[in-house]
Amino acid sequence: MSDRYATSRSLLERARHSLTGGVSSPFRAYFPVPLYFEDGNGPRLRDVDGNEYIDYALGWGPNILGYKHPAVVEAVTRQARGVHTYGAQHRIEPEVAEKFQRSVPCAERVAFTSSGSEAVQLAMRLARAYTGRKRILKCEGHYHGWMDSALLSYRGTAAQLGSVDAPSVAFGSKGQVANAADNIAIATWNGLEAIEKRFADFPGEIAAVITEPVLCNSGCIMPEPGFLEGLREITRRHGALLIFDEVITGFRIDVGGAQKHFGVTPDLATFGKAIGAGMPLSAVAGWPDIMEMMMTGGVAFGGTFNGNPMSLAAANAALDVLMANDGAALVKANRLGCLLQDGLRNAAAKNGIPVHICGFGTAFSIHFTELAEMRTYRDMLGDNKERLTAYIRAMLDEGIYLLPDGRMYVSCVHGEQEIRETVSAADRAFASLPR
Ligand SMILES: Cc1ncc(COP(=O)(O)O)c(C=O)c1O
Repeated sequence: MSDRYATSRSLLERARHSLTGGVSSPFRAYFPVPLYFEDGNGPRLRDVDGNEYIDYALGWGPNILGYKHPAVVEAVTRQARGVHTYGAQHRIEPEVAEKFQRSVPCAERVAFTSSGSEAVQLAMRLARAYTGRKRILKCEGHYHGWMDSALLSYRGTAAQLGSVDAPSVAFGSKGQVANAADNIAIATWNGLEAIEKRFADFPGEIAAVITEPVLCNSGCIMPEPGFLEGLREITRRHGALLIFDEVITGFRIDVGGAQKHFGVTPDLATFGKAIGAGMPLSAVAGWPDIMEMMMTGGVAFGGTFNGNPMSLAAANAALDVLMANDGAALVKANRLGCLLQDGLRNAAAKNGIPVHICGFGTAFSIHFTELAEMRTYRDMLGDNKERLTAYIRAMLDEGIYLLPDGRMYVSCVHGEQEIRETVSAADRAFASLPR
């Protein structure tokens, strides 16, 4: 049988001799082979073997406008002929910051960084400095970047997680400093009692609660009604800050992020991925008295590429597209994503495959499980991973490119045609699964 991925495989073999593992991020080293890509247009990608895919990975999220969106190409090309980085101020910075202010409720002030991991570090430092407390309360299954202070209880087996009432700190990496555990408190998500309990366990120590407002990194689990509102109330009552990590939800669930969508305004929020529409850019947004600590409150913050004109030119163009007509592009994308979810549910049911699909239109996950609802990371520990792997592999062979955890991102340039093709590919993929 001919190998559909032969060129990717041979490039990987070559790359192994120069790049660690042949990849630039171990997260990307997944089956059947880490594909090498040649080109992309709109919602479609082409690999080096000439295979075409409808893409639902979107570069792990950033490509909210698909590939080669004319407005982004035009802005970046113009900037590419100019200066790529000044390490100083330029006109596009306040333009983009003002767009944040207009769309994101907590964005009274904005600071630009380059990656989501970095933005989270800044937000946590600000929270610790502002409150004079040391611990950040984070929830199981949430991903806030790969740094020592944040990569805690993201993944973990039931044994590592410990009891529901007082979860253990599950380290995410060898080499991580052990005292990261002294500056964190872990709770399960989607239950206010668990959060209250941790505030009681660490009286006067919790500087902030950080949460993905939708648990996108572990199965796209939605917050239960009242949960985010409850977090807002509890943090206020305890004199702690509320940080929404909107690296995924920002300019995806809504132009105002999850905070606008759910009507709960945090003190600080982090952004990344979609805001640069494919260029590296992240941001922290928040209230002036907290954010100004970087200028007058002794909080150090730096970054050679912060606010660089290439990334901001892309963001400036992308935010114009996303914000036009009250965010119509995202409204349409989220609607199409819901249609896709319905199509996938029907195709699975038709083939007798139990699945649970959750999330919102432009970011959702398929779980191979008998469970009818998902509330926390612990609920997805029972997912049938072999079946997920077989499904993703079958979809890849059908020309549908998915992330390895079953998550799907829908962009503003996916259309009904792509949705139809994807549902019929899924029908065949479900039918092919071992029973
Ligand atoms: C919610 C969230 N926060 C932070 C990060 C880290 O962002 P980056 O990979 O740009 O460092 C991610 C990345 O996936 C994320 O999903």
